[in-house]
Amino acid sequence: MKQDMIVILDLGSHENARVARAIRGLGVYSEIYAHDTTLERLKKMPNVKGIIVSGGPNNVVDGVTIDVADEVYASGYPMLVVDHQSNKMPMDVQHWPEDDAELVKLLKPFVFGVCKAEANWNMKNFIADQVELIRNQVGDQKVLLALSGGVDSSVVAALLLKAIGNQLTCVHVNHGLLRKGEPEQVIEVFQNQMNANLIYVDASERFLTKLANVSDPEQKRKIIGSEFIRVFEEEARKLEGIEFLAQGTIYPDILESGTKTAKVVKSHHNVGGLPEDLKFKLVEPLYQLFKDEVRACGLELGLPESMVYRQPFPGPGLGVRCLGAITRDRLEAVRESDAILREEFKNAGLEGKVWQYFTIVPDFKSVGVRDNARSFEYPVIIRAVNTVDAMTATIEHIDWDLLDRITKRIVNEVKNVNRVCYDLSPKPTATIEWE
Ligand code: XMP
Repeated sequence: MKQDMIVILDLGSHENARVARAIRGLGVYSEIYAHDTTLERLKKMPNVKGIIVSGGPNNVVDGVTIDVADEVYASGYPMLVVDHQSNKMPMDVQHWPEDDAELVKLLKPFVFGVCKAEANWNMKNFIADQVELIRNQVGDQKVLLALSGGVDSSVVAALLLKAIGNQLTCVHVNHGLLRKGEPEQVIEVFQNQMNANLIYVDASERFLTKLANVSDPEQKRKIIGSEFIRVFEEEARKLEGIEFLAQGTIYPDILESGTKTAKVVKSHHNVGGLPEDLKFKLVEPLYQLFKDEVRACGLELGLPESMVYRQPFPGPGLGVRCLGAITRDRLEAVRESDAILREEFKNAGLEGKVWQYFTIVPDFKSVGVRDNARSFEYPVIIRAVNTVDAMTATIEHIDWDLLDRITKRIVNEVKNVNRVCYDLSPKPTATIEWE
């Protein structure tokens, strides 16, 4: 890492990630570390230009009020102390401003004036650094990657291809629950355009067989997850001499895994659960990046916008949108209606503006009329939501004419569907997905 860095020492503030993002927004790299990071460790990090001590309500751990080590306070690094009472160093600022513009106003003079940091954090430099780091780590050995086609795994693939080319093998497992056109796009971009070593496994039949007659949502998720690992494991065993497994771990995954002062939100794992004898060393080149930086990195590496700005898609895929026990006719109805919805949203300029939008097909039919005769077919439910962190969500106020257009297309073009509904429920009380 050749770029300048501002270190944030976490003394229990909820604002650390926002502060790190704001500093990076100024073009200066910033990372969050535990409050008890030693001076020795700080000195080993390249180009630390200053330290922010960021205190907050979680500054008591196991009954003891925590503080930064004396040696760090005395180190002579430029320091900014926020929200933290200590008898070792006076507080500079009482609170982090809630307003982002105010936050930037506070940080700018510290970062550039006091620390004299250079604004050299950008994706070109990041990629150049990572290419070097990956080459050093991997040498002439081989790396395996589960390439789902999601943003993170796609960017990891592109970065590794640039660094080590055909020492990388990507495995794309199609579990039969992907959206229309997804496996084709993965093959087109990575195999045809980027010349990757890509193993495409069409395991649709195998998954659908396992899922037949399973209606409980948690059971469906478990089957999809464990079957995915099994398929991936089988492919990994066919390959020889693989030492490394690459993962699309990103900075929020690391932060959510908990620091000393923050509770674990979720433990991070991507292809977790591989058996013990398939022990790989990990390559996680995106672990420093926030999601928007991952996207910027992907664009810089030449990935198409449609891949880089893809909306979030759950691991179990369309499986949790084909409600109850999955049947082929309803799965096709979900896939086709989803494709229509995405196309119409794109044409209406909503792609990338609405956080997540998709369709759901329940496991019941309703009566309708088609060609002057009674029909008995499935409904399609449209869901379109906006959120910041997926913990709460509001619905998108879709233009009535657009809803009308989508409805007409779905009932005319999608087999076995005679009715379209729009889900108006926020989260809570509903969740984003229906299962
Ligand atoms: P809910 O339905 O819990 O969804 O409001 C919040 C976000 O998480 C996604 N989601 C999942 N992602 N595996 C995933 O990788 C899952 O099992 C899963 N369930 C929900 C959902 O699409 C939404 O973005």
